Amino acid sequence: MKVSLFTKSLEELNTGALVIGCFEDSLDELKEYHNLTEGVIKHLIEGKDFSGKLNQTCLIRLKGNINRLLLLGLGKRNEFNINKARESSGKAAVFLKDNNIKNIAIKLFPDLEPYDAAFAITEGVKLSTYLFTDFKTQNLDEVKRIESFTLFSDKIKFNEIDRAIKDALIISESVCLARDLANNPGNIATPMMLVNKSKEVARRNKLKINVLEKKDLLRLGMGGILAVNRGSANPPALIKLEYDGGGKETICFIGKGITFDSGGISLKPSNKMEEMKFDMCGGAAVIGIMQAASKLKLKNKIIGLIPTTENLPGGNAYKPGDIIKIYNGKTVEIVNTDAEGRLILADALSYAEKYNPDVVVDFATLTGACVVALGGECSAVFSNDDILCNKIIKAGDKTDEKIWRMPMFDEYKEELKSSYADLKNCGSSNAGAITAAMFLKEFTKCKRWAHLDIAGTAWVTNGKNPLKPVGGTGVGVRLAVEMLRNWKE
Ligand code: BES
Ligand code: ZN
Ligand code: ZN
Repeated sequence: MKVSLFTKSLEELNTGALVIGCFEDSLDELKEYHNLTEGVIKHLIEGKDFSGKLNQTCLIRLKGNINRLLLLGLGKRNEFNINKARESSGKAAVFLKDNNIKNIAIKLFPDLEPYDAAFAITEGVKLSTYLFTDFKTQNLDEVKRIESFTLFSDKIKFNEIDRAIKDALIISESVCLARDLANNPGNIATPMMLVNKSKEVARRNKLKINVLEKKDLLRLGMGGILAVNRGSANPPALIKLEYDGGGKETICFIGKGITFDSGGISLKPSNKMEEMKFDMCGGAAVIGIMQAASKLKLKNKIIGLIPTTENLPGGNAYKPGDIIKIYNGKTVEIVNTDAEGRLILADALSYAEKYNPDVVVDFATLTGACVVALGGECSAVFSNDDILCNKIIKAGDKTDEKIWRMPMFDEYKEELKSSYADLKNCGSSNAGAITAAMFLKEFTKCKRWAHLDIAGTAWVTNGKNPLKPVGGTGVGVRLAVEMLRNWKE
């Protein structure tokens, strides 16, 4: 999709459809388009066909160089914000795409800061029109897509608006990178594929990359990743990406990269098991974050770690009852081989200490219990640091990646006591998301650590939200980038 900024007059604009946003309590602002539509808007308003309710759309066919006008409801003026701007732009873009309109323009929304409005609109268009067709071979010419998007605004604050478009493109393209990785099936998106994609991203963006292969993991004693990998024919890896944009503090992101989670010997039920190709969404998010950080030239030192393997029940698979040793020397009794994410994260979390990070944030599709607790509307955050935790929640407010903090009372640790080893890999069935976080906590010494359980938010199956087409959502990328852009040491 070609994206551009147009600041000349309305008369000079050529487009398949121009989107005009309007508040329900300021419908008179549409007056300036009455002539263009030969009075149609007036009739639509008088007949109550268009009320300006949030996300309402009303398409009007025109005669001139602007083929159509799309009235877009922005809701109540005093309730409007960047989240609504992003969502309604997405709604408009999908509506026009579905109507097979290939070239669209959106007039900069009123009221918001021009940077924020331009940023939200561009994100809305990009995120909502994302398509994944890599494995479609039939009727590709029938796939509807938007070929060009023009942001239409006056010249005031041209530089800010231009910068907003560029920033939003970088960030949404990094979200789409994470989505692409997520949507690839498990037979294609293997640990090796994540390694190769990471190398490509690193090369294109001047990131340092280093990959620990199976022999390295053996040498280093990464017993978590190796145990989970035993049932699989594909080798595991620990991908290490580094970006140095200056700054004193080192921030380390870790992402769970299970490219398929069958549950292993503690096999999952077959219903919806295909969705477990998404068990690498945390890892995909970290790759997206690293790309965006470099392209935006963020002023932070950032490390990205992605432990990756499949979890399969092969003849050599790890078993319930096995005792393994994590990188930091702690032993773990395996009670359930389906609680594998925390084992590979345990290696990565303890390995992260090598970088002496000031902050560690991990993203993981870690527990079904998190989905039971919070559903698909928000991710859970667990943290040992209130300030970091609030930073993450605040960033989520801004990007509309909702987050809810969960407790980590010491008492929960009781659940993980083992008769034979230092810890068990899971507790009884209660408070599963919390005990998983308590387990992770045993493997980091970082005083400012946060764990995000994205099990409910990493992918969608219904596509009801215009900004989240069916498949991987890329959750975490915009959130982390927002946090980094506001980082104060
Ligand atoms: N990848 C799953 C968690 C998951 C389940 C994410 C459903 C998204 C949707 C994870 O590895 C897992 O299987 N966790 C177990 C832990 C249990 C055995 C303690 C779970 O949540 O059931
Ligand atoms: Zn599992
Ligand atoms: Zn898993």
